[in-house]
Amino acid sequence: MNNPILVTGAAGFIGFHTALRLLQKGEAVVGIDNLNDYYDVSLKEARLQQLDNFENFTFVKLDIADKADMEKLWSSQGPFTRVVHLAAQAGVRYSLENPYAYISSNCMGHLTVMEMCRHTENFQHLVYASSSSVYGGNDKMPFSVKDEVNKPLSLYAATKRSDEMMSYSYSHLYGIPQTGLRFFTVYGPWGRPDMALFIFTKAICEGQKMPVFNHGQMKRDFTYIDDIIDGVVATLDTPPESGEEQPPHRVFNIGNTRSEDLMDFIHLIEKELGMKADIDFKGMQDGDVQETYADIEETTALTGYVPKTTINEGIPRFIAWYKDYYGAA
Ligand SMILES: NC(=O)c1ccc[n+]([C@@H]2O[C@H](COP(=O)([O-])OP(=O)(O)OC[C@H]3O[C@@H](n4cnc5c(N)ncnc54)[C@H](O)[C@@H]3O)[C@@H](O)[C@H]2O)c1
Repeated sequence: MNNPILVTGAAGFIGFHTALRLLQKGEAVVGIDNLNDYYDVSLKEARLQQLDNFENFTFVKLDIADKADMEKLWSSQGPFTRVVHLAAQAGVRYSLENPYAYISSNCMGHLTVMEMCRHTENFQHLVYASSSSVYGGNDKMPFSVKDEVNKPLSLYAATKRSDEMMSYSYSHLYGIPQTGLRFFTVYGPWGRPDMALFIFTKAICEGQKMPVFNHGQMKRDFTYIDDIIDGVVATLDTPPESGEEQPPHRVFNIGNTRSEDLMDFIHLIEKELGMKADIDFKGMQDGDVQETYADIEETTALTGYVPKTTINEGIPRFIAWYKDYYGAA
């Protein structure tokens, strides 16, 4: 039996699906999360209940920024030689309201995870979440990992870019194999209540006004959760090697390589629900970007990642889950 894999943020949307897939593959998983109340804690608990059905799953509630608790975890449940680090304070807009949460979880938390990995013998691979938001207002499409990313438009984006830079330095200094994944707008069952698909579905079901920013003039590379998890697992299985001048660190885009019009996305939700949205068009929000679109050439070449799910397939799957979970019409 392999050592258990540590999944941070295991009660979160992507962490839950990652842990589930790894458990289904027969791996042992230790999941950690601080179960903060940024959004409905009962949804996080319900995700954990699903994972508790697996004998090989252990959950520990802790804050990744707490060094003493992380050391205790490593000695009681570890050592971990493979880590999928997804815990973070997510959300672009909330970073304008509560900036300190981002520095604590995304910067101090990231450092603590790396410090634990660096003191682990035969450490194999740290896969960590970055974000498409690091591309800021870049207008060269699609976004490539070779593009410059020095102009984050939100503190959230700045913390994710900082994670990439901290990781590069740790790979350079200590030879830790690491891969940063720039996820592009992830959606699907068990999704996040602060994200567009969830907000739109809820507003339509409840007959409430639905704010749509930048007057609907937005494009997003929406990526279905199962495709994201294919990418996470394929990446975990292929750690980077050190080259002559290259530390064992790299960054991949994990997107769908289709930039969809937000209004088409909304029409699909309306069609699936058989209900009309009461749209309240608004201006652009601070920190937001108008368009995202992933170039995944390197990800595919190095891991075999190929996204398969269109929004025509993915949106109905989310809505079926939403209706089942919330008992909605
Ligand atoms: N969902 C997306 O579209 C998307 C896009 C780009 C990047 N990401 C990144 O992917 C990762 C997972 O995102 P998600 O959508 O699953 O978000 P999520 O909020 O559902 O999951 C994050 C989890 O981390 C936990 N957490 C936060 N701070 C913590 C701390 N200090 N200690 C322990 N646990 C902590 C939260 O309680 C939450 O359960 C994050 O790093 C996020 O920034 C997500």
